[in-house]
Order: sequence, then structure tokens, then C-alpha cells
Amino acid sequence: MCGIVGYTGFQDAYDIVINGLRRLEYRGYDSAGIVLENENKKLEVEKTKGKVEDLVSISEGLRGKAKIGMGHTRWATHGVPSDRNSHPHLSNNGKIAIVHNGIIENYDTIKTMLVEKGFTFKSETDTEVLVNLIQYFMELNPEIDFPTAVRYALNEVYGAYAITVLHEDYPGVLVVGRLGSPLAIGIGDKEYFIASDASPFVEFTKEAIYLEEGHMATISLETGVDIRTINENSKIEPEIQQLKLSLEQIEKGGYEHFMLKEIFEQPKSIHDTMRGRLLVGEGIIKMAGIWDHIEKFKNANRIIIIACGTSWHAGLIGEYLIEEYGRIPVEVEYASEFRYRNPIITDRDVVIAISQSGETADTMAALKLAKEKGAFIYGICNVVDSSIARITDAGSYTHAGPEIGVASTKAFTAQLTILTLIAFKLGKHNGNLGNADFMSLIAELDAIPKKVEDVLSSTHEQIQEIAKDFVNATNFLYLGRGYNYPAALEGALKLKEISYIHAEGYPAAEMKHGPIALIDENMPIVIIAPKKGHYDKIVSNVQEIKARKGKVIAVVNKGDRQVSEMADYVIEIPETSECFSPIVASVPLQLLAYYIAVYRGANVDQPRNLAKSVTVE
Ligand code: F6R
Repeated sequence: MCGIVGYTGFQDAYDIVINGLRRLEYRGYDSAGIVLENENKKLEVEKTKGKVEDLVSISEGLRGKAKIGMGHTRWATHGVPSDRNSHPHLSNNGKIAIVHNGIIENYDTIKTMLVEKGFTFKSETDTEVLVNLIQYFMELNPEIDFPTAVRYALNEVYGAYAITVLHEDYPGVLVVGRLGSPLAIGIGDKEYFIASDASPFVEFTKEAIYLEEGHMATISLETGVDIRTINENSKIEPEIQQLKLSLEQIEKGGYEHFMLKEIFEQPKSIHDTMRGRLLVGEGIIKMAGIWDHIEKFKNANRIIIIACGTSWHAGLIGEYLIEEYGRIPVEVEYASEFRYRNPIITDRDVVIAISQSGETADTMAALKLAKEKGAFIYGICNVVDSSIARITDAGSYTHAGPEIGVASTKAFTAQLTILTLIAFKLGKHNGNLGNADFMSLIAELDAIPKKVEDVLSSTHEQIQEIAKDFVNATNFLYLGRGYNYPAALEGALKLKEISYIHAEGYPAAEMKHGPIALIDENMPIVIIAPKKGHYDKIVSNVQEIKARKGKVIAVVNKGDRQVSEMADYVIEIPETSECFSPIVASVPLQLLAYYIAVYRGANVDQPRNLAKSVTVE
């Protein structure tokens, strides 16, 4: 949800900021802008509706002009995408520039006050209010300096923000602050970087400070990084972390899109997620996060899984896994509903939050609520040191590596891997999973990366052909039963978000309670029909569809006969125990969505209206 980049040092600030924005474009891509402090200590701004490349086409004149600057790539919240609403925003006196990720919730009240004091506004954004509030405080208190004015202003606003601010009268100084939106400071040799995540500066430094909630920093080459609390101005000693991110991980590596690269990375990302945890030879699952708190899990009244979107789908599969093997009651909730419905939570509840980014605002708020009510909170996040990872009592990272395509793929299968490990570990510990079954399941889990690799190589070309037949489809149904019902939901979500074709997922048996009315010869229906998992019932569902002339794309196990004979298209995947089938079956559905979207000419990595990390509610 908006990406911000800042730089001060000896290199050309234009190139650093623009390249940084390219890396952060996954966070929002409806407009972009840059501001540099030129050699005459004047601020020069260029901004436009559109992508970072549109910004480049109007701003190249700024190249080589400055060693300090900042930029923004936007996902619109207040005000439509337009040149005027693009960041950076300038204060009325033209001296202060700001870039902002987040939402200032009380901007309207502050704007009214500022208008009464004679301020005018060019945009409809909340951000322009904040930059003018800084100017207001500087005029009201001529004795205070620029960082203090920023602090005063931040103490007046509520909502979520990560900001970077420049002031013409304070050359060489960048002031940053954060509450609810992420901000990292890269520490180079005689240079500093600021960014929403570390990807814009990974090739320049491996040292970073992740600014904590409610902290701000004043950054300059002369004085270094001075971190303070926003409410009390107390000095904070920075905690410098070593980045593990590599440049290679955040580049496309020869693939046309990040999404395709990430789909193909799944054998590795699933393997990496299990590495060091699944010790098949020794017959153990090692997960310190679970083991250190095993009594909490064992004595839990119930486990509540909270998440959004794809991560919520993983949570639904987690419910099947943990109830089947751990025999602990599980509820799965949309974080956005949970946080506002006054849920009953006690200190005997374990709340698991699943989030790729670890920054999703609704998941974060739901988690805080559960924590306040005394629940033990556990995180399953992909981004190391993300906000959610940091507020949980314990957790397990999915080691999927950076996921840059906006549609989640490898993070989803990595989340399923962690949930499977947790379910098996709990099952083994509480005696529901006997040793022989445990050993056979973990051996099978260990072989899943290879099976995913086989699916990728055996279905890739075939799916490209199938996709061609559905380029003009307007609707799709995705059906599955048991473990594969959430996999059907996920398949439908993938298709709609990147191809803009309407798609719905349903439990196959629910079809006859409504969606069957939609079926005719124009309705494509993707049905997940592995041998293990209510196969006979699925056969009946396929018969019902064919009786109404629906077009069936069936995902079946190798050697399948009954469903394959009826289906119009057959995609074969290797046979697995039912609990693993969503991992294996999701891969061809990701490819199908990907190729349909590509053939429709859609921007697969940056689908319209979406952003990778949803830091607003
Ligand atoms: C869909 C997708 C989204 C995210 C959702 C939650 O492909 O990526 O539905 O799953 O916004 O995001 P995280 O997992 O970062 O909390």
C-alpha cells in the first residue's frame, strides 16, 4: 500500500530513488513522484498519475542534480489517482515536502482547522493536510526546529503512517516516522537509505534499522540517525540488523513475470520451509515456536486462525489439518470481521495469524485485540521482522523468500507447509497420531517438493494450451470437497484478481443449492477431484455438471478414469494423502490463472486496484 524511498549520500539521488520505486512498485502503482533537494538547496518535484516508468519519462531532467531526495509509488486511498493527488505533497509555503504510506484518519478535522487559519489545498489527500500541519507548527512556534515540528504534527494525527519529510531550510536532513506502516533505514558507508522494505537498498548495504511503531528518526550525513519516540521525544538506541535478502531473490531471473518465477520456485520454497524442521530420519518435527509453548496449544480451548485473502484460504485448510491430526477445535475468521464483532476470547485461546507480508492492517488489528484479551498469539509470516511477526508471542516463518507478484502463490503453499507441520506435531504430541502414521505422513511430506516439481514440468505446456480456450470466458466456477474446497476458493481468487474474469469457489456439494443454476454450455467449471477425498461424490457432481453441458476442467490423479472420461480437459497431478492434495492441486490452478491473464493482456504482476501489502483497513 504505497511505497516510499529516501536517500542521502554521495550517489545520484535520482537513480537511487527511481530504482527503489521500481522495486517497491508492487506496493501500489497508480501514481508516482519524486522530490530532490538540488545543489542550490531548492526542492524540485515531479509527479504523475501512472507507473514509475511514466514518472521516469517526465523527470529524467532531474538526473545528476542531487544527492538527497525521496519518492513515492501510490495506491490511492483518499482521492482518485491523478497528478494532483500523487505524492510528494508540498506545504503551502513550498518549503516542506512529504511522502506518506498509510491513512490519517482525523485529516478532515485538521484540514478544517488549517483552512480556518488560511491554508489552501491542491489535492484531496490526507497527506497534504499533514505536511501543512508541520508548516503550521513551525509558524506557531518559531523557536522549534523542523524535526520537532514533525513530532508535534505526528502527535496530533491518528491512523497509520510511514512518512519521510524534507525541508528546504534544513538541507541534508530527512525526517521519518512510523505508526502502523513499515519503514526501514539502510545504513551505508557515508550514505543512508529509507524505504518501505529493504529491497531498494539491498545491493548497497546489508545493515538496516527497522523503525519501531511510534518512533521517528532524523537522518543526515553530519549527525547520523537520531531515533526518538514520537510521543515523548525519548532517545532510542538503534538496533542494527543484518539483512539476509539478496539481489537475486528480488529479480525476475529470466521469467517474464514475478508470478511465474514464484510459481516455479515452489519446490524450493516448500523445501526451505521444511528445512531444519522436518527431520524424517530421526522421526521428528522441530518447531521451537510450538514446542516452547506446547502446553498452551495442548490446553487450548480452541485455536482461532485469523487472516485475509489467500492467507485466509490457507487458514481454512489449516482448520482441516489441525482438527484432523491435532484434534483441537479450530475456527477460521476473516481478520476484518473478527476485529469489529466483539469476539469472545479468553486466555485459554490460541490465536494464529497468517500473513505473507506481516503488515496487513486488519490482521494486525485483530491480533492486537486478541492479545489484549489475553489469548496466546502465534504468527505465520513470510516477511522476517514484519510488524505481525514482532507483536506475536511466538511464531514460525514461512521461508518462501520475497514474494513480489501481487497474487500470492509460493507464500500460500509455504503457509500450507507450516500448518501441516504444526498439525502433525500437535497430533504426535497429544497421541492422536500414532507413530507409524506419523512416520508415513512425514515421509510423504518430505516428498511433496518433488511432486510439485513434477506437476510443474508435466502440466506447464498443457495448461498454456487449455488457457487459450478460456481467454474470452466471463465467469468460472471452482469446485472441490474437503481439503480441496479452500483450494477451489484460492483457485477462483487467483483467476479473478489477475485476469478480471469473475470466478467463484464453492464446496462441490453446495453447487446444487444455488450455483447449479448458472451452469450451461458457456460455464467453465474447474473441479478438483483427487482419488483420496470423497472421489465418488465428486464423480456425481461432475455428472450433474455434464448433464447441464457445463465445460469441465478436472484436476485428477494420474491414471484416473471416471472423472477423466466425463471431463472436457484433464490435468493430472500425482496421488497424495488427502491432506497434501491442496498443495499439489493449487499449482496447476495458479498456472491456469496466470496464462489466462497473460493471454488477455493483463498486467499479471500488478493487477488493477490491488497492492501487495494492504496496510490500510
Ligand atoms: C491474493 C493475495 C491477497 C493476500 C491478502 C493478505 O493473491 O495476495 O489476498 O493474501 O491481502 O495478505 P497477507 O498474507 O500479506 O496478510
